[in-house]
Amino acid sequence: MKKAIGIFDSGLGGLTVLKVLAQNFPHESFVYLGDIARLPYGNKSPETIRKYGDQILRFLKDQGVKAMVIACNSASTVYLGEKSFEGIPLLNVIEPGARAALENGTDKIAVLGTSATIRSHAYEKTIKALSPKTSVVEIACPLFVPLVEEGVVHNEITDLVIKRYLETVKSEKIETVILGCTHYPVLADDIRKYLGNVNLVESGEVLTTELRALNFVTYQSTRQIRICITDVTDHFERLAKELMYPETLGPLEKVIL
Ligand code: DGL
Repeated sequence: MKKAIGIFDSGLGGLTVLKVLAQNFPHESFVYLGDIARLPYGNKSPETIRKYGDQILRFLKDQGVKAMVIACNSASTVYLGEKSFEGIPLLNVIEPGARAALENGTDKIAVLGTSATIRSHAYEKTIKALSPKTSVVEIACPLFVPLVEEGVVHNEITDLVIKRYLETVKSEKIETVILGCTHYPVLADDIRKYLGNVNLVESGEVLTTELRALNFVTYQSTRQIRICITDVTDHFERLAKELMYPETLGPLEKVIL
């Protein structure tokens, strides 16, 4: 296998990002690491997230990757501004996500994320550094991750939770919303149903632009997608298939970090 792009998430939510990258770069290889054994990261301290993140980045480096992408927003917050890790180029989702949101030209941006992401104010700081006049409304949506993991989506429960979290976004007529968590793209249609015609900024598309601009993508006549996880359960295998659909999923590799 030629050199792949490494990608990591706290669990399987990052497969929403991998799916978009795999579709947009059909001749590129990827190694994905989902830290299922230690999920969720969204309620952990920055120190713990950093410790786990460093272990994962070392694992990906050992797989011989040419670049590493932190798909997990909660983990990205502790690597802000870091362009490499032990000599391997490193990308996070916050900086490109903030730039993509600003491209919509709206004067107010809403950021949805886990408690760790919102508590860090990483998106707000990054947006303000680029455009001090833009207002940022940050909203922690801790129930979204368990809803997606339990497959409780596209129904009246999801609608209620979305209304509860996004009432301000609707009443303030905010037109650009960053989906600052790997699980949230699964809820994109439900969020659009409630908010109407808004610009949703999703990490998969944002990273596609970034990887292309940085020239990391190469042509490989036979590409390989490896999915490594730190624990295996039937539940996660089912969830992985759902998240990657319609892409087919190879065997999950259990790894010990
Ligand atoms: N992957 C995390 C993120 O994007 C969400 C799940 C978790 O809390 O670990 O922030």
